[in-house]
Amino acid sequence: MSYPEKIHEQAREVIARYPEGRSRSALLPLLHLVQSHDGCVTDEGIAFCAEALGLTKAQVQAVSTFYTMYKREPAGDWLVSVCTNTLCHAKGGQRLFETLSEELGVGHDETTPDGTVTLEHAECLAACDYAPVVTVNYEFFDNMDDAEALDLVRQLREGKRPIPSRGAPLCTLREMSVQLAGFEDGREAGLEGNAGGDATLAGARLAAEAGVTAPAFDPDAPLVAKDKEEAK
Ligand code: FES
Repeated sequence: MSYPEKIHEQAREVIARYPEGRSRSALLPLLHLVQSHDGCVTDEGIAFCAEALGLTKAQVQAVSTFYTMYKREPAGDWLVSVCTNTLCHAKGGQRLFETLSEELGVGHDETTPDGTVTLEHAECLAACDYAPVVTVNYEFFDNMDDAEALDLVRQLREGKRPIPSRGAPLCTLREMSVQLAGFEDGREAGLEGNAGGDATLAGARLAAEAGVTAPAFDPDAPLVAKDKEEAK
């Protein structure tokens, strides 16, 4: 498959963000970019990234198979990730996964035959204070129970876009991949959505009440600690 000029243009823009001689650092966003076009990271996508960055296909393949965000099979419009790590597991995450698996008729990293939903187990999603959590295309749905999780996937399959507990309104996985490649969310509605959750803000509120502040950022602070500098 040859990629349209727009993808080449975006790839050049991504690579230009990195210092000369460090273009290989652009690999992660470039993989998101080809995924936004193909719906997954295809062999063609790997060849494209390798050529653009002067890497071997084996190097690109190694990176793309290391990170779970890169899909090697066509994924659905809606990637439903259920956290089954320790805290979410203790609060019912595994049961949520099994409930959704039964409803959708798919297992981990599988996509419904109609191509709408890909289901996956996820490691800690860094939202333990809202356990058990589910994300759809990386937007959070907090404190889920079985009925809410079922309602969520049913709405997605009906073409609706439920509002996440926090973060921007949902967009498809391909649209999200463009953002993950480092491009702005072009939707006006992308600025809408729910702000930080109460559990997250509780610490900041307590600190404000107690008058606790963090030291201000010192732009003149040395990049290497003095004792480490002297030890050299
Ligand atoms: S264990 Fe589920 S978000 Fe941390």
